[in-house]
Amino acid sequence: MTARIAGIGAYVPERIVTNDDLAKVVETNNEWIFSRTGIRERHISTGEGTKDLATEAARRALSAAEVDPKELDLIILGTSSPDCNFPSDACSVQAALGAVNAVAFDISAACAGFIFAMNIVQGFFMAGVYRTALIIGAETLSKVTDWSDRSTCVLFGDGAGAAVLKSCESGGIVDMMMGADGTKGSALSCTSRTFGNFLTKTVPKMGFMSMDGQEVFRFAVRKVPESVEILLKKNRISKQEIKYYVLHQANERIIEAAARRLNEPIEKFPMSIAKYGNTSTASIPLLLNEMQKQRMLSAGDKLMLSGFGAGMTWGAVLLEW
Ligand code: ACO
Repeated sequence: MTARIAGIGAYVPERIVTNDDLAKVVETNNEWIFSRTGIRERHISTGEGTKDLATEAARRALSAAEVDPKELDLIILGTSSPDCNFPSDACSVQAALGAVNAVAFDISAACAGFIFAMNIVQGFFMAGVYRTALIIGAETLSKVTDWSDRSTCVLFGDGAGAAVLKSCESGGIVDMMMGADGTKGSALSCTSRTFGNFLTKTVPKMGFMSMDGQEVFRFAVRKVPESVEILLKKNRISKQEIKYYVLHQANERIIEAAARRLNEPIEKFPMSIAKYGNTSTASIPLLLNEMQKQRMLSAGDKLMLSGFGAGMTWGAVLLEW
């Protein structure tokens, strides 16, 4: 058995923040941000949490798939910005949807979270454990962003994307891979709270994200083509057969560099980074949702999804739409 996407949905907070808006907060400008990242604007939450965005994206995916929440066996929510340490945001989404028959849990794989969630679902489906799953990538990174740090605050946006996966005999996910390298963890990190208790007489403080941009850039440009080539070779599929490469939307320049390394035309790499920024684990389903809306996807199309992020983590999924 294999997992096939039966419906996709997305939701972003209403408030749009342009590069010019950010230039009023930190010393930056539209030219710098756009030329280095491809980002023009992003959506930032003014109150909705990760689980609110996730629930709305999930409702839209369920409606597109024509699946009742009670049919779900499994809910996996990938996020690096959960609202709570516990209960998991996935359990909150389960409650909000009334998905009473589903087991629910969060996973933390940063920007590779949606790809990791797909891999997990495929494993459960192949083993015959579950038949219907909901996976969600949702982030309110704005709450862990240091809004005085211009090197990171211009990059990220809030949003959520979701997919309903159904077990089927053929089609759907053809193959998948995941990887992690914890030795490079410091390149992109965000402490949830600093250490502190009555013994140390210190009060825990909130952590914010920090990033070595050039290290992340080098990592992504190496790992994306590498993982794509692994899946193509293993499955004896030529690049010409791939209709679109759906990459994590971290930075337009990373995507362009990956396209060059793969020797593939940039037209096969759709992008939505200009209007959403980097939404971490939400970026791949957000992009798939845009592609679906623009009628770019037809049954049988071969797609290569590829995500990479903090950890460092990376992964790819080869699938038939
Ligand atoms: N506006 C204006 N100037 C800025 C800004 C800004 N927002 N941010 C940094 N600068 C300045 C720096 O202070 C520095 O100035 P200096 O030369 O006087 O010291 C100069 O611009 C160059 O800074 P760099 O960090 O070297 O800029 P770089 O060209 O590397 O671009 C960027 C930074 C866009 C982050 C790049 O490293 C990159 O694309 N990295 C990939 C990382 C990424 O995309 N991360 C997203 C999250 S990771 C993920 O999703 C997996």
